Amino acid sequence: MTTDPAGEIAQLEAEATAALEGAADLAALDECERVAFRSKKSRFAEMYQKLGSTAPEERRVLGRLLNELRGRLEALADGRRAELAAAARIERLAADRLDLTEVLPRRLAGHLHLVTQAREALEDVFVGMGYEIAEGPEVETGWRNFEALNIPEDHPARSPLDTFYVDFGEPWSVLLRPHTSPVQIRLLQRGVLPIYAVAPGRTYRKDTPDSTHLPVFHQIEGLVVDRGVTFADLKGTIDTFVRAVFGEGTRTRLRPAYFPFTEPSAEFEMSCVICGGDGCRTCSGVGWIELGGCGMVHPAVFEATGVDPEEWTGFAFGFGIDRIAFMRHGIADLRVMIENDVRFLGQF
Ligand code: PHE
Repeated sequence: MTTDPAGEIAQLEAEATAALEGAADLAALDECERVAFRSKKSRFAEMYQKLGSTAPEERRVLGRLLNELRGRLEALADGRRAELAAAARIERLAADRLDLTEVLPRRLAGHLHLVTQAREALEDVFVGMGYEIAEGPEVETGWRNFEALNIPEDHPARSPLDTFYVDFGEPWSVLLRPHTSPVQIRLLQRGVLPIYAVAPGRTYRKDTPDSTHLPVFHQIEGLVVDRGVTFADLKGTIDTFVRAVFGEGTRTRLRPAYFPFTEPSAEFEMSCVICGGDGCRTCSGVGWIELGGCGMVHPAVFEATGVDPEEWTGFAFGFGIDRIAFMRHGIADLRVMIENDVRFLGQF
């Protein structure tokens, strides 16, 4: 033992205290404790060993000093450990933090496709007029798509050159619907009258994509069946929804046409949204844009679905949604609708 064991204990206290207080993390703290008192070769172990060779009286005093110091250092280490653990926890929480209130820049948030936006705008207009939104499957029977709609066996639309047939059941009996009109049949078959319904949905035709055609496109079908419904109601309905979608100043007109499932039938047109009717490139100089087909429900359609044509009359119409979306925004080529280029889609 050196000549000044009390001095040595004081020095041990100073050094160990500084080391424990300065420990930067939990691992460093463990190491300090090990060096000071938690191992066989620790400073304390060394001191206790030295005590063995001192006089009993001095040994008692020094032993008490050492034990007291050990208690102080352990308390200090415990305090420091708690501090470091709290700091580590705060750091971990900060790293794991999820800010649920954070608002993403709008560009990254995504939004409805512009065809969906047009469909919803149309649905809103018809719901406002008291119509229900109906739906039918995209894979449909030939019977609902053709026979029940009074479309004759030899009609060109029935050719596999125009319609996609599905290899299911009897040959040529199941297809991807080329229009939404089979939903008329589903609504009539339901047998709940009167009917005020629109049915938007996807449709398929064997068309080569170009600026005005896509093989997969969207239509919306309208069907009204009630007592005493007239052609004037049809004209008024078309007028109302076209003005609601394209603005009050828009005019509509009907031109005679032929559809097997309506009689009389018409094509409906609206005044050009770009030039207002004066004639421009969009309307090919005529001032009018063709929207779709319409007419009074043919009695043969009522008969096929068990509705009494003596009691009920109705009208139907159908038109493309994609073209509506395209005209609302003055877009020149339908193909951009399906290219999924976010630079295009992000603008709407
Ligand atoms: N289904 C017809 C078409 O796709 C449109 C239409 C619907 C015509 C309802 C009259 C009545 O061209």
